[in-house]
Amino acid sequence: METLGRVLVIVPTYNERDNLPRITERLRAALPEADLLVADDSSPDGTGKIADELAAQDDQVHVLHRPAKQGLGAAYIAGFRWGLGEGYDVLVEMDADGSHQPEELHKLLTALSDGADLAIGSRYVPGGKVKNWPASREFLSRGANVYTRIMLGLPVRDATAGFRAYRAGTLEKIGLADVESQGYCFQVDLTLRTCRHGLRVAEVPITFVERTVGTSKMSGRVMAEAFWRIFQWGVAGLPGRLRGRRS
Ligand code: GDD
Ligand code: MN
Repeated sequence: METLGRVLVIVPTYNERDNLPRITERLRAALPEADLLVADDSSPDGTGKIADELAAQDDQVHVLHRPAKQGLGAAYIAGFRWGLGEGYDVLVEMDADGSHQPEELHKLLTALSDGADLAIGSRYVPGGKVKNWPASREFLSRGANVYTRIMLGLPVRDATAGFRAYRAGTLEKIGLADVESQGYCFQVDLTLRTCRHGLRVAEVPITFVERTVGTSKMSGRVMAEAFWRIFQWGVAGLPGRLRGRRS
């Protein structure tokens, strides 16, 4: 076990006005030493204004206002850049809608202090669970992970998971400048980069609880981007995988 230093939890938001106050309260109670950065894409429902009000009441809450809806991946890159610039040692990804439980965050941090470079809160390792997802959505998510495994051969059960903790050094090593993923395939993109750099990925079981308030931003466009990018990464990585197998 080592001490991890300063922790920043980044929460991307798009139309989460009814979720943001509650998740902020839960995070601040569960991990009082961690800071929060809300990365809001100018949500039409006024989430950005609510974030400003929360930040005005609490020095450990910060807000990044972004000009337009540019995708979850783009919001995280901006958040990571901000956090690295401010000197945080650990950067956490967490959804605003309560699907990722702040009360489980300590498990991710423990995995980092035990030596991981990236800790993933995983639904699909023993002990991991999904609550209240319709069968169709679970099928889609499991299918996306099977597809990712076949295309990329990653030793990870839940490569699309969005509840994660990165060491600052991991993000610096893998580099953010050339990340093109805008939507949810950003999660797979960074998992692939972390593995290809020979860094250590740990998966810890979490319970993902489907939102009860607001709506998912998953869309056909998000899925199409993921499908094509993962395909392209798979083809680009094929010679290396074949060489690895022969030796
Ligand atoms: N700033 C910003 N911009 N935030 C966004 C955007 C965007 O374009 N799109 C989504 N978000 C925010 C949402 O407001 C929420 O806080 C979080 O990102 C997750 O979005 P959801 O729409 O609730 O995702 P989900 O529940 O369908 O998907 C979950 O599972 C995916 C795959 O299994 C998430 O955990 C994803 O991260 C994960 O990849
Ligand atoms: Mn969600």
